[in-house]
Amino acid sequence: MPYRILTLNNISSRGLARLPRERYEVGSDFVDPDAILVRSADMHSTPIASSVRAVGRAGAGVNNIPVAPLSARGIPVFNTPGANANAVKELVLAGLLLAARNLGPAWLFARSLDGDDAAIDDAVEQGKKKFVGFELPGRTLGVVGLGAVGVEVANSALALGMKVLGYDPQLTVRRAWQLSSSVEQALSLEDLFARSDAITVHVPLNDQTSKLVNAARLALMKNDATILNFARAAIVDETAVVAALDGGRLHAYVCDFPTRALKDHPQVVTLPHLAPPPARRRRIAPSWSRSRCATSSRTATSKTASTTRKRCCRGCPAPRVSPSPTATCRTWWGRSPPVSPRTASTSPTF
Ligand SMILES: NC(=O)c1ccc[n+]([C@@H]2O[C@H](COP(=O)([O-])OP(=O)(O)OC[C@H]3O[C@@H](n4cnc5c(N)ncnc54)[C@H](O)[C@@H]3O)[C@@H](O)[C@H]2O)c1
Repeated sequence: MPYRILTLNNISSRGLARLPRERYEVGSDFVDPDAILVRSADMHSTPIASSVRAVGRAGAGVNNIPVAPLSARGIPVFNTPGANANAVKELVLAGLLLAARNLGPAWLFARSLDGDDAAIDDAVEQGKKKFVGFELPGRTLGVVGLGAVGVEVANSALALGMKVLGYDPQLTVRRAWQLSSSVEQALSLEDLFARSDAITVHVPLNDQTSKLVNAARLALMKNDATILNFARAAIVDETAVVAALDGGRLHAYVCDFPTRALKDHPQVVTLPHLAPPPARRRRIAPSWSRSRCATSSRTATSKTASTTRKRCCRGCPAPRVSPSPTATCRTWWGRSPPVSPRTASTSPTF
């Protein structure tokens, strides 16, 4: 009998094609599924049937999934870290430039110009000084979290001529190999906040990272600094950021999470959660081989990827969702050849 896979969100048909029909039945209304595939649906308040033996998250963060209760039930949770690392990196770089050169207000100003071309030229000459901003080379970017996204952002910021400080107490050997040796290690979050002109956060949302950017840390920053948040809204204390902007201590806040308090603020750029890559990229077939077990990888983050992978398969009570008689996690790991870190960035996001 085929394994029943319950989808809680739309999953790319190219991704689902990796579940052959003779072995898997995929649907959105099973009451007793063997496994669940989810993107952003909040599973915290969803009853999870006793038949479920694995949960796969088509995305990086797992904060929409009750990982601890599932772990207690012996149900592993798999995610796809790095699947949209390139897309997020591009937005962070765009956000840095938007903030540094005041491009949002400058564009609005240009659109508001009226009259003939001579009048527009005059108005441009009069108005442009307000938007000059600053250039990036020589400025310091602080990167909190040096995982799939953070490493790409850090290396790209160096290429723009910025100095880069990084902070990640659980940096893996794999990411350390990918990270440019020019990235300087911050000794603590406080050290990073005190020395950065702009800070970008790339950490999962959990009890330790909720409101990681808060009033106390904002107070340590240089005047006219910028905060970028393309991770999760709750990592930044929105009230503290608005107070710092209004108090003239912060230059700009750029994020992927519009709210009532943020969307019209003159020093805030909010984007409509654009990090998932455009459809052209999404058409590339996904690779579940890059998934990792969110349950057990938490205890293996200082190991290399291959160690994590082995430990993940051995250590977690993964179900035999796959008919393969070999490793328990083969359903998720073994369906396609490993993807290199470079090609990983072109993989799709769900
Ligand atoms: N906006 C989007 O569409 C979008 C897209 C991708 C990822 N994300 C978010 O960004 C986060 C990062 O994505 P990723 O693919 O780089 O994940 P990742 O798992 O590869 O990297 C996360 C890194 O954060 C580090 N970390 C954890 N807690 C930390 C702490 N308290 N201080 C410093 N470092 C800490 C980890 O050691 C790890 O290296 C995800 O968890 C997700 O929430 C958002």
